[in-house]
Amino acid sequence: MASRRILVVGSGGREHALAWRLARDPDAEVLVAPGNPGVEGTLRCLPIAESDSPSLIAACQAEGVDLVVVGPEAPLAAGLADALQRAGVKAFGPSAEASRLEASKWFAKQLMREAGVPTARAEAFDALDAARAALRRAAPPYVVKADGIAAGKGVRVTSDRDAAEDFLASCLERGSFGPGGRRVLIEEFLEGEEASVMAVTDGERFVLLPAARDYKRAREGDAGPNTGGMGAFAPLESVTPRHEDEIARRVVAPVLEAMARRGTPYRGLLYCGIMLGPEGPLVVEFNCRFGDPETQAVVPLLEGSFADLLDGAASGSLDRSSIRRGEGAAVSVAVVDRGYPERVEGGGRIEGVDRLAAEPGVLLFHAAAAPDEGLWRVRGGRALHVAAVGPDREAARHRVYRALERLGGEGWRFRSDIAAARERARAALGAS
Ligand code: AMP
Ligand code: GLY
Repeated sequence: MASRRILVVGSGGREHALAWRLARDPDAEVLVAPGNPGVEGTLRCLPIAESDSPSLIAACQAEGVDLVVVGPEAPLAAGLADALQRAGVKAFGPSAEASRLEASKWFAKQLMREAGVPTARAEAFDALDAARAALRRAAPPYVVKADGIAAGKGVRVTSDRDAAEDFLASCLERGSFGPGGRRVLIEEFLEGEEASVMAVTDGERFVLLPAARDYKRAREGDAGPNTGGMGAFAPLESVTPRHEDEIARRVVAPVLEAMARRGTPYRGLLYCGIMLGPEGPLVVEFNCRFGDPETQAVVPLLEGSFADLLDGAASGSLDRSSIRRGEGAAVSVAVVDRGYPERVEGGGRIEGVDRLAAEPGVLLFHAAAAPDEGLWRVRGGRALHVAAVGPDREAARHRVYRALERLGGEGWRFRSDIAAARERARAALGAS
């Protein structure tokens, strides 16, 4: 088959994982823009910012790109997929209108109400007094959210009413989240186990990828502040085939139908943040793109042609049989700056990275790191992701931590309990 050129847009570990997986398909030639120094080692990177749609379009035309896969939400919300399509370039990723499912939590709630999708009850406020009064009527724990995109910091879950009120004031009075915080949601607290379920869709048909668990908190035992994600594993066994069937029927299908009815069909990746409660799966949030770091643990498990799957979705002719779920499990652990997320200093030295890439079953997905005389320097919060596949979760976990133990240097750390059994996670919490 003739080779097909695919451009992955973005610069993090998620984009490295997507590009790595696409490049394994025999007929795919993969470029990345802008990528990062680690990606440059194996794939051609174009020095174009993800926000620069005119230059991305020009590069696609000059390079004869057949398909663009957009990683992050910001360019999607700003209309990159629309601009590419208008220029005649096929894009995997929703339109700006459709990406409101992530860009406005209130829009997502209204759509879920319209489509009958199970989720937490919520009210929206744009005035502080009314929001405060609603909080006083509510019972703890309080869940307060900025409506718009807030760089992953727009959610506060707390039993401390003063802290919840302070969050309201930071959104509505102090404007800490800019336009994304001019409206807030006060939501019912959901109990249960969290799961990330991603659907690839052409707007009508869809396929669910293996469910994953994301570790959002900075410290072992789920302590410390929320981060962009400290690690992930897949598949998540607690998402049973029955849960998947319910998520397909009660979440994904009705959302796609409602979006199509509105004249804004949803094409691309629909990320469903799910709470598995006593009454079944409930939606916590939607994202309009692949999860980070879930992708680093999910794509290594996909067999078949990932390029065909994404191309089919972007073309409106998704073929579910393009991919199969492989046997086994994958675990991915983020290597982060010592002070992440509160005080990222940068400059840490990671030694032995290149050696890991040669180990069987171990995968390296680069993010904010740069090579420096035989080692890698930390250049941001999450420097790189080390992933491993194995016949089961325990084997993959063992492999990834054995690899991580061989890294040297200073100024960086990782969570030691990614994909550990719950008992171990609790023990770690007790010990910290
Ligand atoms: P979100 O950005 O909406 O995913 O929220 C970030 C995190 O806050 C989620 O992953 C959950 O851990 C937590 N969270 C959000 N909404 C709720 C809720 N209604 N009940 C309990 N926890 C929640
Ligand atoms: N891992 C959660 C996210 O990608 O937003």
